Amino acid sequence: MNLTPLEALRRQYERFPYPPIPFLALPRRGQGADLRYSGPKAAPRILVAGCGTLETVVVAQAHPDASEVVAVDLSAESVAISRRRLSWMRVARPWRKLPRVRFEVGNVSSLDLGEFDFVLASNILHHNSDPSHLLKTLAGKLKPHGLMRVVTYPKGSRYWMRETSRWLKARGLKAESEALVRESRRAIRELPIGNPLRSCFESQPETRTRAGLVDAFFNACENPLSPLEWERASVEAGLKLIREGQDENSRSDFLDDFLGDAEALSPWEKLQVLDDTWELCANPVFWFEKTDEAHAKDRARTTESSESLATQLRRAEKILTQAGKTLAEYQSWLRKAAGPRVNPRTPDELLRGLSLVEYDLAELKARD
Ligand SMILES: C[S@@+](CC[C@H](N)C(=O)[O-])C[C@H]1O[C@@H](n2cnc3c(N)ncnc32)[C@H](O)[C@@H]1O
Repeated sequence: MNLTPLEALRRQYERFPYPPIPFLALPRRGQGADLRYSGPKAAPRILVAGCGTLETVVVAQAHPDASEVVAVDLSAESVAISRRRLSWMRVARPWRKLPRVRFEVGNVSSLDLGEFDFVLASNILHHNSDPSHLLKTLAGKLKPHGLMRVVTYPKGSRYWMRETSRWLKARGLKAESEALVRESRRAIRELPIGNPLRSCFESQPETRTRAGLVDAFFNACENPLSPLEWERASVEAGLKLIREGQDENSRSDFLDDFLGDAEALSPWEKLQVLDDTWELCANPVFWFEKTDEAHAKDRARTTESSESLATQLRRAEKILTQAGKTLAEYQSWLRKAAGPRVNPRTPDELLRGLSLVEYDLAELKARD
């Protein structure tokens, strides 16, 4: 049976709601401070697009004075778990003030939900076949000067995730396998320590559960945009980038030390260099304001459609040239500023093969 990408995605999250944690698990005190609305409205109306099983409660806890939180997901099971978690939170923490919460099941693009002061789209856009279109639809639900917080996968920096996914699938592993956790582990351990596919797999906390593995390596639809594609999509949606919320080493201003002149490249160009060279290790967190101004329409560009590694490196090199720098200079700066990847769970352990600093650039550029 041929399913549309959205229907395949719905079925996946119906079967494997995300994150896969029991409904009794409640957010820690203060969790969600980084996603708090910072606009002028005292009682904002908030949309949680693609809420999954946990985010609604985190958002509700962080916004006790919201006029309403509307949480939407394609997956009825994810919404049912969210509802149970919220009810449990009201019982377990009766002293905590929570706003009114309304749940909806369906495609957030096609539901008429009214207008919002704040839209959160965490880890949803890249699971849709046209992320730019979804961004535009969500921007259409924002009031003027409303805020949107987007968390998304990087495109180029997930190079090894895609290679590992391809390798696991080529070994015959499938989301349908009941023993996916055991079988994936057994397969990956046949590779020598230091093999980048094994390093990549071992860097993922998601590999402990089947739902986590499905989300990370066997997803029905994974389609992230590159930073320059985000630039174009946001301009077309009338959104202006106002802040980045991810870890410092994955933010555009991480490059300023190397460039010497912070204005030499735009934030999107800096992010593109980092992404093309696998350095967006933390998922980008973009804060947008709805402006509807033609603020950067002339500058919006398309990226090349082919995204081979050689293409990525050529693009990074071209952008760096505009700032008077070479890719080789960037690589040697990166060696000192970031170094090879370490395991986030055991920081003394190096994860070999995942960083550009370990490779011969000429050899990489000739690879495909
Ligand atoms: C990876 S989960 C993220 C869940 C949650 N936002 C979080 O960050 O923990 C993606 C969720 O988005 C939902 N989703 C994806 N596309 C959607 C759409 N167009 N409309 C509604 N929900 C969608 C999926 O069903 C899934 O529950």
